[in-house]
Amino acid sequence: MSGDPPIKRLRSRDWFDNTERMDMTALYLERFMNYGITPEELRSGKPIIGIAQSGSDLSPCNRIHLELAKRTRDGIRDAGGIPIEFPVHPIFENCRRPTAALDRNLLYLGLVELLHGYPIDGVVLTTGCDKTTPSQIMAASTVDIPAIVLSGGPMLDGWHNGELVGSGTVIWRSRRKLAAGEIDEEEFLRRATDSAPSAGHCNSMGTASTMNAVAEALGLSLTGCAAIPAPYRERGQYAYRTGRRIVEMVHEDLKPSDILTREAFLNAIATVSVIGGSSNAQPHIQAMAAHAGVPLEMQAWQEHGYDLPLLVNMQPAGEYLGERFHRAGGVPAAMWELLNAGKLHGEVRTCTGTTMADNLEGRESADRAMIRPFADPLMEKAGFLVLSGNLFHFGILKTSVISDEFRDRYLSRPGHLNVFEARAVVFDGSDDYHHRINDPALDIGDSCILVIRGSGVLGWPGSAEVVNMQPPDALIRSGTQWLPTMGDGRQSGTSDSPSILNASPESAAGGGLAWLRTGDMIHVDLNQGTCNALVGEAEIARRLAEEPAPPVPKSQTPWEELFREKTGQLSEGGVMDFAVHYRGTSRKLPRH
Ligand code: FES
Ligand code: MG
Repeated sequence: MSGDPPIKRLRSRDWFDNTERMDMTALYLERFMNYGITPEELRSGKPIIGIAQSGSDLSPCNRIHLELAKRTRDGIRDAGGIPIEFPVHPIFENCRRPTAALDRNLLYLGLVELLHGYPIDGVVLTTGCDKTTPSQIMAASTVDIPAIVLSGGPMLDGWHNGELVGSGTVIWRSRRKLAAGEIDEEEFLRRATDSAPSAGHCNSMGTASTMNAVAEALGLSLTGCAAIPAPYRERGQYAYRTGRRIVEMVHEDLKPSDILTREAFLNAIATVSVIGGSSNAQPHIQAMAAHAGVPLEMQAWQEHGYDLPLLVNMQPAGEYLGERFHRAGGVPAAMWELLNAGKLHGEVRTCTGTTMADNLEGRESADRAMIRPFADPLMEKAGFLVLSGNLFHFGILKTSVISDEFRDRYLSRPGHLNVFEARAVVFDGSDDYHHRINDPALDIGDSCILVIRGSGVLGWPGSAEVVNMQPPDALIRSGTQWLPTMGDGRQSGTSDSPSILNASPESAAGGGLAWLRTGDMIHVDLNQGTCNALVGEAEIARRLAEEPAPPVPKSQTPWEELFREKTGQLSEGGVMDFAVHYRGTSRKLPRH
C-alpha cells in the first residue's frame, strides 16, 4: 500500500500547501528548515508522521526510545513518510512524588494539543513505563488520527545470587525479609539494583509489561511487539517495521476509532487475566475505553475475566521474567490460547490491517513451563473479582497473586469457602501506616485486615500505590507474610499482596472508608462479591454527624489543584470527565 496516493487530503496539507493562505504556508514552512528539512519534502504530499518521544533522562524506563527512534525514522522514510519527533511529558513511576498517577492525565492533555495543533497525519506512540501507555492511547483516541504503539520493552532478567529477581517484586519480597531479620539493608539494596540489569521497563509482569500487553491485545501494536526485551535486536527491527506500518495506516486511514471497539477492550481484559497482569490495568483500560467512547461496565472485569485461568508463569503471580516470556512467544502465544479456547474476539480489526485471529496464526508457545496450555493452567479462575458493599461501590481483587498460605488461612475454611471476617485496623495515608504499624497497642494479629484511606484520586492526590501494606515486623517473624488489606488507593502491579484495591468512592469523596474505625468488623464474601463493615445505619449516621472527616492534605502545585477539580474516581478510570466528550478533534482543523 505504501507509495500509493493518499485516499484523502492529508491534514498536514492545510499547513504546507494552503492556497487560500499562502502567507501562512510560507510562515509554517520556513522554520522547519532550521534543521535542514526542505520545503520540497514538506510540500511533497507525503504523510507527516509524528514520533511521540517518551524517553528522556527523567524517564529511564523509556530511554531506549531515544535510540529506537532512529530505526523508526528509517521505516517511516522507506515507506514514503516524513518523520517529526517531539517530546511528551516525561513519566517515571518510581521516582515521581507524590505519585506518577498525577501525570497520566497531564501527558494526555499535552499530547492531545500536540497532535491536534500541529501538521501531523499519523503518530508512533512510544511506550514503556506504566502510565506512558494508557496516556498516549487516550490522546490518540481523542484526536483520532492513525496511531500505532511501539513499546520500548522490558529490561533483561534480573539475577541475584542465582535467583531470578524481578524489578518491583524484589522490593516487596525483600521488605518482608528485612522485617523478618533475614537480610540487612545493604543486601536489600543489592537485591534491588540487581533486579534492573539493563535499559528497559520493569521485567516482571508489573503495570508496564501489562499495559504494553494491553496495547497489543487491543490491536494497537505489531504482533509480538510488547514483550521483546529492550536490548534485543528485534527491538530495532520492530521499530523499523512500526515506522513503515504507520505510513501505510495513514494511506488506509486506519484510525483508533476503527480498532478500539468494545470487543477489543474485552480482549484486553481477557489477556490481562491470563497473563496475571497488574491491577492498575483496571483504571487504565477503563480510561482508554472512556476516551474511545466505548461503554465498559465495572462488572466487565469479573464477567469477562474472572473465570479465566492463569497461563503466564511470570512474577509476581509466577516464577519467571520478561526474557523467558518473550522467548516463549510473548503476548501472541498467550492470546493464541484464548483464541483456541473460544475466549477471544478474533474478528476485530488491528493496526496490522488484518484481524486479530490472522495475527495469531501459528503463534502457539513451545515453552509450556512459561506459557501453560489453557486446559492445564497454573491456576483456575485467576482473573479479577469485583466487590461492593457499604464501604464502597467498587473495589477490585487480583486473585492470581493470592498465595496458598493466604488461601489456607482465610479462604478455605470448611463451610465458609471464600468467606472471612476480620477486625479493621485503619490508617490515614502511608505516613500514618509507617508510624503506627509496629505499635503493640494496635494488637495486630492474624484476624485483622489492614485498611488505608486518603490514598485515592482526590485524597492523595493522584491515587497512590500504597495498599499493599505488610504486616507488623513481629507478625512476619512469626510466619505471617500477608494480612488481607484494603484501601482507596492502588498497589504496584509488581506486588503479590492479596488486596482489595481502588475502592471507589474514596474516603475523600465521601466513601464509606471515611466512617470506618479501627476495631470494626469487616465481612468479605468473595462468592457474593461483597465487602461490608458490620456497623449499623444509626452508628454510621452518628459518626458522620459527630466525628471529624479524615484529613486531606492541601494541593502543593497548580496541577494538583486542577487535577483534583477535574478528575473522577478510579472505578471510572480516573479520567477528566469533561475531556471524554472530545473525540475525533482531527476532523476539524484548528484555525490559523
Ligand atoms: Fe518504570 Fe516499572 S518503574 S516500568
Ligand atoms: Mg507502578
